[in-house]
Amino acid sequence: HAAEQVEAKRNAGYRAAEEVRDGMVVGLGTGSTVFFAMERLGERIIREGLCVAGVPTSYQAAIRARRYGIPLTSLDEHPELDIAIDGADQVDPALRLIKGRGAALLREKCVCDAARSVFIVVDPSKMVDTLNAPVPVEVLPFAVEAVSRRLAALGADPVLREGVKKDGPVVTDNGNFIIDCDFKAIAEPGRLEAEIASIPGALECGLFCGYMEKITVIVGEEKGCRIV
Ligand code: A5P
Repeated sequence: HAAEQVEAKRNAGYRAAEEVRDGMVVGLGTGSTVFFAMERLGERIIREGLCVAGVPTSYQAAIRARRYGIPLTSLDEHPELDIAIDGADQVDPALRLIKGRGAALLREKCVCDAARSVFIVVDPSKMVDTLNAPVPVEVLPFAVEAVSRRLAALGADPVLREGVKKDGPVVTDNGNFIIDCDFKAIAEPGRLEAEIASIPGALECGLFCGYMEKITVIVGEEKGCRIV
């Protein structure tokens, strides 16, 4: 089963890398599925002499991109991106997403917003009828208690994310904390996203509901992939 899932991720990632054209600036998402897109993009840079630059959404993405020989640039340099390739934790039939398992959601949303088109690469286990995974919220450490209370008032069971190989809270690449919020099945994801966005100190949440028009989801399968 694990091997099948890796194959599915590889097929999705490789397919997304084929969307990149010469001269493009590419948003590089975070997570194991995007790694495969970066791997293939690195190969295309060598094989086809493709001239591209990537905007990484995390230290992890930057480190991988360098390893695969993808030149890096910044969102400041390129506030409009031709394309972004990113993973997701859940995708619903309306192409709304939950992201942020890897704590990279804040930059991922900036990159998603800046990109003309967004390719989301997933394996079939991510496709759900109703979004119901915990929603990660990146929080200003100064406001962590106040934000937790507001999130609880919205119906979540807020849990401060703690490190596996570090004592105490996970500190994001931006120096903030993550609160994981279990809302169970989310009936109105767009509304919840807006409500969380209205909390001072909640810097961003992992619900991505406003980008359906520019998102293409590539669901990798054991053999090939399916475009949604
Ligand atoms: C990172 O914070 C997340 O938004 C990732 O994009 C997501 O967790 C996908 O990761 P995998 O491709 O490893 O499942």
